Amino acid sequence: MNYEGILNPVAKDIKPSGIRKYFDLINELDDAISLGIGEPDFVTPWHIRQAGIESLELGHTHYSPNSGFRELRAEICKYVKRKYNISYSPDNQVLVTVGGSEAIDIIFRSILCPGDEVIVLEPYFVSYRPCVELSGGTPVIIALKAENDFKLTAEELSAAITPKTKAIIINFPNNPTGAIMTKKDLDAIVEVLKDKDIVVISDEIYAELTYDGKHVSIASYPEMYDKTVVVNGYSKAFAMTGWRLGYVLAQPRLIEIMFKIHQYAIMSSPTMAQFAAIEAMANGDEEVEKMRTEYDRRRRYMHKALNEIGLKCFEPKGAFYMFPSIQSTGLSSDEFAEGLLKKEKVLVIPGDAFGDAGTGFVRATYATSFENIVEAMKRIKRFVKGCEGANDRV
Ligand SMILES: Cc1ncc(COP(=O)(O)O)c(C=O)c1O
Repeated sequence: MNYEGILNPVAKDIKPSGIRKYFDLINELDDAISLGIGEPDFVTPWHIRQAGIESLELGHTHYSPNSGFRELRAEICKYVKRKYNISYSPDNQVLVTVGGSEAIDIIFRSILCPGDEVIVLEPYFVSYRPCVELSGGTPVIIALKAENDFKLTAEELSAAITPKTKAIIINFPNNPTGAIMTKKDLDAIVEVLKDKDIVVISDEIYAELTYDGKHVSIASYPEMYDKTVVVNGYSKAFAMTGWRLGYVLAQPRLIEIMFKIHQYAIMSSPTMAQFAAIEAMANGDEEVEKMRTEYDRRRRYMHKALNEIGLKCFEPKGAFYMFPSIQSTGLSSDEFAEGLLKKEKVLVIPGDAFGDAGTGFVRATYATSFENIVEAMKRIKRFVKGCEGANDRV
């Protein structure tokens, strides 16, 4: 069988994730510390796990309604109103998905035609670009700048818009940089977008994890409500990565189309996870706050430590990532990550795994224990000192 003639050329051309090889390397090492994986080190809070367990005990092991249990959709609407003051109807504006990941995929599949452009901000979460391409769209990259703390500016946005622009995907608080957009930052972006027929996909999966004021959703602007599709989920704030549950909030017509793709591709999201998610949204605030407070403690320690080591790092105000520059070491992002892993057994991810704008940076997560972070900073310090020595000898 000649698969080369059979396979979809777009799928063939998609680059494998630049992160994979590091996970293979770390698996071979004892005593390694991973600052690599973007998932909470916390276990899902017990009361949420208990709700999942109870659902099994009660025999809730069947498919759910395709768009998710109504009780969960209603809980999502209540939560979003309470937290971000945005109103959605559980009847036709919410779709429960298999993580934010499915939501991102089906949004693009619902709106894109060949040749449509989607503005993607670099550095980006790894799935955005492939999902745009697999849906026949063309990513148009805006390379965000460290000197702007990796925020999007109105000037950058205006320059990227063409008559073919169908959508923009934004993600604040951001993976991989930890950047946020304040109300003032968003005001300028809204000015550019408010009169345009451009869909704004706002991936707000880290919305609960901010450390300097509350998250502001672009959907909360009346002039943007109609244009914005919000992606969110349970993986990060509630430490529920393995439960595979997320949701999308949008206007009824778009939900209707996404619903069809979801129905045929997925059928319905995991039932047990939906019961757990109802509990998470109704009663999870206290546990989320405990985790957020601990992330913040680690964030402040790590930010100070990296700058003291000489790896210049702006202060990330959200998510659970640091994105320090490693240019002072004279190494490329890849050389830094590989050298650090081999010599000091600490895993960080090269910044260019998140697009070219990440060149010269690495991503380090603080979703690991404080003790691990303290030890990792010692090892990174030693490694960077070794680089200085090597540079001096040149
Ligand atoms: C920015 C961003 N969006 C979406 C996701 C997908 O999360 P999930 O599918 O677990 O909800 C992730 C996971 O790392 C992420 O970082």
